[in-house]
Amino acid sequence: TDLKVLDLVPFGQTGGEARFFALRLERPQWADWKPGQFVMLRPAGWALDMLWARPFSICRISARDLVIFFRVVGRGTARLAQLRSGDVVHVWGPLGNAFAMEPDTPTLMLAGGIGIAPFIGYAHTHPKPWNLWMDFGHRMPLGCYPFESINEKIMADSHHEEGPEDLSRFIETMGRRMREFRDQNGLVLACGPTPFLRTVRSFALEYGVRTQLSLETRMACGVGACLGCVCRTTEQWPDPAGAGGNVQTCTRGPVFWAEQITF
Ligand code: FES
Repeated sequence: TDLKVLDLVPFGQTGGEARFFALRLERPQWADWKPGQFVMLRPAGWALDMLWARPFSICRISARDLVIFFRVVGRGTARLAQLRSGDVVHVWGPLGNAFAMEPDTPTLMLAGGIGIAPFIGYAHTHPKPWNLWMDFGHRMPLGCYPFESINEKIMADSHHEEGPEDLSRFIETMGRRMREFRDQNGLVLACGPTPFLRTVRSFALEYGVRTQLSLETRMACGVGACLGCVCRTTEQWPDPAGAGGNVQTCTRGPVFWAEQITF
């Protein structure tokens, strides 16, 4: 699908330089999508050495737009940061699986940095009770996220909580919050950088909390063909052989139960 850029909003500035961007595209004509799914995206007319598209979690799809968040980490994302209103991008999606939706289950969303993106959509579509908890190692208070409807929804429900900035306190508090949700037979969902997910996974296994992780993996094709995104599964993986093995994150994930994968 070719979609036009509506606008590109920088946020989370430090020292005058934008660290994060919210890219708003015109709404695609997709019948359905679910929070946790992602898109592959590439600007039209990208140079040959940048042919590969990049994967991005869907932040939301509204009646008017499709929104993704990204951080500049290399040439590809630096090029994305130069997009202007009216530019055209190629978008493939929605791809991958989605987070579990259990309307009656207390749900704790753990977001590391722009790992908040899929939870914006989740908070919009999942009835309460849910609770959003954020990693502020990234120093990005909730009010920094662009788009009125994002902040409106999350702030109005006031179920969010900010993690302490000190790392050891942050980890300790996160473990406590996960134990609380275990005691309520709750569900924990996490999205963020790999070290963050590793910590969440170790708490999930230690405390026996039902936990899903959305993996951040480099992807080239997004459709299971290049094998560039494999992750290692455990014997808990629902494979008839039950032995675990490498699976493609793009088609079998990106969301996995904590006990199904290993880093
Ligand atoms: Fe190509 Fe997953 S990105 S197989």
